[in-house]
Amino acid sequence: MKGLTGKTALITGASSGIGQAIAIRLAEEGCNVVINYRRDSDGAEATRRQALERADQAIEALVVKGDVSQEADAIALVQQTIEHFGRLDILINNAGVQTESPSEAIAVDSFDWVLGVNLRGAYLCARETIQHLLAQNRPGSIINVSSVHEIIPRPNYLSYSISKGGLGNMTRTLALEYAAQGIRVNGVGPGATATPINEAWTEDLEKKAKVESHIPMGRAGTSAEMAAAVAFLASDEAAYITGQTLYIDGGLTLYADFREAWSA
Ligand code: NAI
Repeated sequence: MKGLTGKTALITGASSGIGQAIAIRLAEEGCNVVINYRRDSDGAEATRRQALERADQAIEALVVKGDVSQEADAIALVQQTIEHFGRLDILINNAGVQTESPSEAIAVDSFDWVLGVNLRGAYLCARETIQHLLAQNRPGSIINVSSVHEIIPRPNYLSYSISKGGLGNMTRTLALEYAAQGIRVNGVGPGATATPINEAWTEDLEKKAKVESHIPMGRAGTSAEMAAAVAFLASDEAAYITGQTLYIDGGLTLYADFREAWSA
């Protein structure tokens, strides 16, 4: 895709799932990639190895540990990227967590943790990236990995739904604030995707079939399908797109219940 060769992309939470696929895809497109992870150093190393193997061009892949919900870590993550590559062009806010609980019983620590990673972490990484882009007077692209739950309410996952709804508003607000400086901010909203966050149903054929029965296209998505959309939005092919969340969901956001008429 146009405009990705030689760029530097930082991907948070890139030791597994969608983040791993994004790092590999951007490396295939000729980006130098910074692979952030929180705990899983083996996963991050696997991402690095595959990114280097799959890239046609000479690229570099740097692995950086850090918890995006911690301000000092988010600052260090962007700083280390710039120290190593001299620039940061693309930020992918992918790191995300979720917890399940009836809303009347959510412990405050659990609530703060989900918001801290999914929303504050994304903001902190965006803030540091934007400061750098403005200082170097460079255009850039920020992509927030949101969810269909940016717009579909998700009972028993209140903190997750709030975080993704907030992420959507962050996408639009930052896009408007920095459009004139050439900083594009977009989101992707994955539907059900087979990754570690969904072990509860991906490992169980019966549960998987039940999940897939709700998806108009009849199947879960893949991390590679999410990564393809992210690469597009980061590239110059999407040069005139900002402030949008692109749902990649096999039709999940189309109100599937309306497939058949409700009344005669
Ligand atoms: P995953 O669990 O494989 O990926 C999440 C990654 O974030 C992990 O590598 C984890 O270590 C990392 N992470 C968690 N806390 C972190 C922190 N404090 N600092 C740095 N990294 C941290 O699951 P998946 O599916 O790849 O999730 C990636 C993103 O996609 C998440 O934001 C998730 O909400 C979103 N998403 C996933 C969907 C799915 O069906 N798999 C659907 C909609 C959105």
